[in-house]
Amino acid sequence: MKFDDVLYEKDGRVAVLTLDDQKKLNALSPGIRQGLKEAFEEVEKDDDIKVTVITGAGRTFCAGADITGFDFSPAGAKAFLNDVFQALTIGENVSKPVIAAVNGLALGGGLELAISCDIRIASEKAKFGVPEINLGLLPGFAIVRLQQIIGMSKTKEMCMTGEPISAEEALRLNLVSKVVPSEKLMDEAMTMAGKIAEKPLLAILLAKSAVNRHIGGEEITYALDSMPFLFGTEDVREGVTAFLEKRKPVFKDR
Ligand code: COA
Repeated sequence: MKFDDVLYEKDGRVAVLTLDDQKKLNALSPGIRQGLKEAFEEVEKDDDIKVTVITGAGRTFCAGADITGFDFSPAGAKAFLNDVFQALTIGENVSKPVIAAVNGLALGGGLELAISCDIRIASEKAKFGVPEINLGLLPGFAIVRLQQIIGMSKTKEMCMTGEPISAEEALRLNLVSKVVPSEKLMDEAMTMAGKIAEKPLLAILLAKSAVNRHIGGEEITYALDSMPFLFGTEDVREGVTAFLEKRKPVFKDR
């Protein structure tokens, strides 16, 4: 089955979702956003499914928000951000557990999608980064959730430098549970999903909701509310134009 740009396969009690918009490196394009929404609606209503594994087709897991779809008007930026935000927080907002099998680059909203999932397994080729600063932006969800996983200092370093980290470093920082050779990634993810799927669903659902109960939401609203301001700055226009023109941006701090 396919929901827009998200492939949907069932393997016993496990749903496997594959982001598949490879010409944009699986960035959160309208097709991926809509596909994620519909695929997870299917997961939630299908009583056969207990666990979801999410991965990316090709060389990336997900390259983040769709930079070609940015809208710089205040209302447009807000609507765009809300839509992207719904997509990248989906792992956290569905009731059933989600495992991210991170096959390659997970950047910006791609890293955020991965951290909204309950568990992450990475291929040794995976890299994790929040490069939004190179566009004059910040990762609204990661700024809150990433520090809850890897701590304040490393989160600030990643957000301020925009430099990605390797899968091995992600393991050291507890960002992922396991790093495996890329050809073993799906087997490992499916083995873990299979183990969970053998357990009783009601206890699984409570394990997720009880652990997530303390993680909060207000700080995220604050971070998200500050984004339209950044979208209105000259530096974001320059960052985005430079990305699209494949050149280094020249920021003016305004
Ligand atoms: N949104 C939209 N399109 C994207 C994209 C994104 N986030 N990331 C990559 N693409 C597109 C590129 O524009 C390019 O399209 P083109 O072939 O029409 O020119 C295509 O995907 C391949 O990307 P390219 O940059 O040529 O590949 P690369 O291997 O040289 O670099 C990345 C890969 C991921 C390092 C680089 O594409 C990148 O930095 N992407 C942006 C990541 C980002 O900032 N994410 C957060 C956004 S808020």
